[in-house]
Amino acid sequence: MQVVKYVFQPHGDERGQLVALEEFKDIPFTIKRVYYMYDTIADVVRGKHAHKSLEQILVCIHGSCKIRLDNGREQKIIPLEKPYEGLYVPNAMWREMYDFSPDAVLMVLASELYDERDYIRDYDEFLEFIQGD
Ligand code: TYD
Repeated sequence: MQVVKYVFQPHGDERGQLVALEEFKDIPFTIKRVYYMYDTIADVVRGKHAHKSLEQILVCIHGSCKIRLDNGREQKIIPLEKPYEGLYVPNAMWREMYDFSPDAVLMVLASELYDERDYIRDYDEFLEFIQGD
């Protein structure tokens, strides 16, 4: 399983750092939605779903967390701990986010608006979905 991690360009100067993300330049899709998680309780596992067609880039813009990606055949664990790194999560990929530091802010750039019909929240259903992929 190939994991795609983007390293964004920080525009640093004596004042500090700034990262800019533009669709089709830094991000490989139209950004239709941005959301973020913070104050995540220790030991919580979020996500636990896949998407039928949505693509995402996950950026832990503060603190750290881990992402488990599972394509139904293989799993990979990717730590996210730099505000200039983005993890690409394609469609048809089961994801779990966990091990959040108390100060973690996990930002998600998504290719579609929120639509519950695009979610696969049952793991067996996910395995069936990828069989037909
Ligand atoms: P949920 O899907 O449980 O988050 P995750 O799978 O990442 O742990 O979402 C939590 C709540 O937020 C749920 O009530 C749906 C709502 N929500 C929106 O209204 N819009 C969104 O874009 C997202 C991602 C969630």
